[in-house]
Amino acid sequence: MHWPPFSPLVISILVQCITASHSKDSSPQPLPNGDDSVCDCFVTNGTQPGYFSNHMFFDFRNLTQDAGIPPIVTNVTNATFVPPTSDYFSSDEWTSVWQLQGWSNSEGKGKGLSGAATVLMAYSPANVYIEKNKDEDADSQTYLTLRTQREPKFQSAAAFQTKTSDYQFVSLRMLARTIGSPGAVTAMFTYRDATASSSLQESDFEVLTRGPRENVQLTNQPSFDSDGKVKPEATTNATLPGGMIWSQWAVYRLDWTADSSVWYVDGQQLANITFQVPQDAAGINVNAWSDGGSWSGNMSVYDQANLQIQWIEMIYNTSSSSSSASQRKWKRDPTRFLWGRDAGPRGELPRRRDLSLRSSSSSSDGDGCKVVCSIDEVTEQGVATMLWNASSTATRMAGADAVRDMAWAWTLLVGGLVWLMIV
Ligand SMILES: *[C@@H]1O[C@H](CO)[C@@H](O)[C@H](O)[C@H]1NC(C)=O
Ligand SMILES: *[C@@H]1O[C@H](CO)[C@@H](O)[C@H](O)[C@H]1NC(C)=O
Ligand SMILES: *[C@@H]1O[C@H](CO)[C@@H](O)[C@H](O)[C@H]1NC(C)=O
Ligand SMILES: *[C@@H]1O[C@H](CO)[C@@H](O)[C@H](O)[C@H]1NC(C)=O
Ligand SMILES: *[C@@H]1O[C@H](CO)[C@@H](O)[C@H](O)[C@H]1NC(C)=O
Ligand SMILES: *[C@@H]1O[C@H](CO)[C@@H](O)[C@H](O)[C@H]1NC(C)=O
Ligand SMILES: *[C@@H]1O[C@H](CO)[C@@H](O)[C@H](O)[C@H]1NC(C)=O
Ligand SMILES: *[C@@H]1O[C@H](CO)[C@@H](O)[C@H](O)[C@H]1NC(C)=O
Ligand SMILES: *[C@@H]1O[C@H](CO)[C@@H](O)[C@H](O)[C@H]1NC(C)=O
Repeated sequence: MHWPPFSPLVISILVQCITASHSKDSSPQPLPNGDDSVCDCFVTNGTQPGYFSNHMFFDFRNLTQDAGIPPIVTNVTNATFVPPTSDYFSSDEWTSVWQLQGWSNSEGKGKGLSGAATVLMAYSPANVYIEKNKDEDADSQTYLTLRTQREPKFQSAAAFQTKTSDYQFVSLRMLARTIGSPGAVTAMFTYRDATASSSLQESDFEVLTRGPRENVQLTNQPSFDSDGKVKPEATTNATLPGGMIWSQWAVYRLDWTADSSVWYVDGQQLANITFQVPQDAAGINVNAWSDGGSWSGNMSVYDQANLQIQWIEMIYNTSSSSSSASQRKWKRDPTRFLWGRDAGPRGELPRRRDLSLRSSSSSSDGDGCKVVCSIDEVTEQGVATMLWNASSTATRMAGADAVRDMAWAWTLLVGGLVWLMIV
């Protein structure tokens, strides 16, 4: 037998590579105790992977001890001051990241309403609560509800936001649905305050309950220019995929990076807007509201609409340099309404910033990230898995190197066969 002397090596390399590349495709590895603090970064799936340093998951699916539908506070002043509706909203888990909003769009006694509102609206902590899931085929015990209801004298609304506004790029997801009557807006969005020195920057996922149940609105604000003209590049009215409607549970996802805002529902891309992408650090907001303006429309008295959420998950980066400056508390600031469509023309226009920020924080290649994890390829929602560990030879084969090593193995094998034939 004239067997090539290196053939056992060839075969063993080939076998190793096939096994390694196979294991990459089929199984991201579970982390010991699901502890994702060993992850150096988290990568998003999709056509343009984004790498993020941090991960958070908020699970509202099993909070039975906190469940209960609180009454609406009918006095508009009191509505903004009521305490949280359950212990959950006082827990460290919640308060370390989120805060409930309590303020109204009244500009003050004898003055009007802010923005283009025609109806007095009050964000009330009483409208954010944990509710029992009474669906027939319920896949959770409970969920979080944001309620908005038209009262005879005002619109009672719901909102919460992150305590800090130092999120600088995020892949934000929630399992949610919107139910109820026309005239409300439910939304998940990034928001940066508009002040004299820094302009409004915002990326929105919105449902309008006056509109068709197949449509959602996706926008990098402001969607109006200073003359009140719509900027078509800033906004997309998207149809939900596969005949879905927004009153069904679905995963709403916004991938905000320096180059684009990309929106998905149940993993299917709805839009990719590269125009007016927010560049500066921002807060993350969730709300349900209506102010009688032309964007939301009006709700009829005692009509109600709810945004219901089973979980919220995000992987994100923060702006390390400006984080202390942006650790501000929310304030009762009526100019917040600048974010609404109706206030568009009043708002200052954001400037595009493609300065050093882009090169410093949007390399998007996960430089220096050795243990790479995923929140997409998981078996349990909220528990990250490891895709590869660049420090470990065992899993390095499973990474990008596998392809190159495969090529080498084939070359060696073919070379070996040729040698065999010649001999
Ligand atoms: C979004 O569009 C930009 C510009 O066309 C493109 O470079 C990028 O890959 C797109 N991103 C996704 C996720 O489709
Ligand atoms: C829900 O929480 C309770 C404790 O409050 C726990 O005993 C139970 O296993 C949990 N159920 C699920 C499905 O996670
Ligand atoms: C509003 O709150 C005050 C105390 O803060 C209370 O005395 C009053 O009864 C409340 N009004 C209504 C309508 O709930
Ligand atoms: C709401 O309650 C406040 C006291 O907290 C009271 O001064 C005010 O008159 C009440 N408003 C209405 C409309 O009842
Ligand atoms: C979005 O498109 C649908 C279908 O064309 C339309 O009925 C709806 O009014 C649009 N929504 C907005 C906010 O323009
Ligand atoms: C990305 O992951 C999500 C789950 O987070 C999934 O629904 C979607 O289909 C995946 N997309 C691709 C292109 O694999
Ligand atoms: C909402 O109702 C108010 C009267 O309460 C009216 O002034 C306003 O024009 C209505 N808004 C819309 C969008 O129809
Ligand atoms: C997040 O930060 C890491 C580390 O600085 C960087 O490599 C990555 O590109 C950033 N992600 C985005 C989407 O900007
Ligand atoms: C990654 O590989 C290094 C080197 O083998 C090892 O020390 C480390 O524990 C691994 N990390 C994980 C999360 O597997």
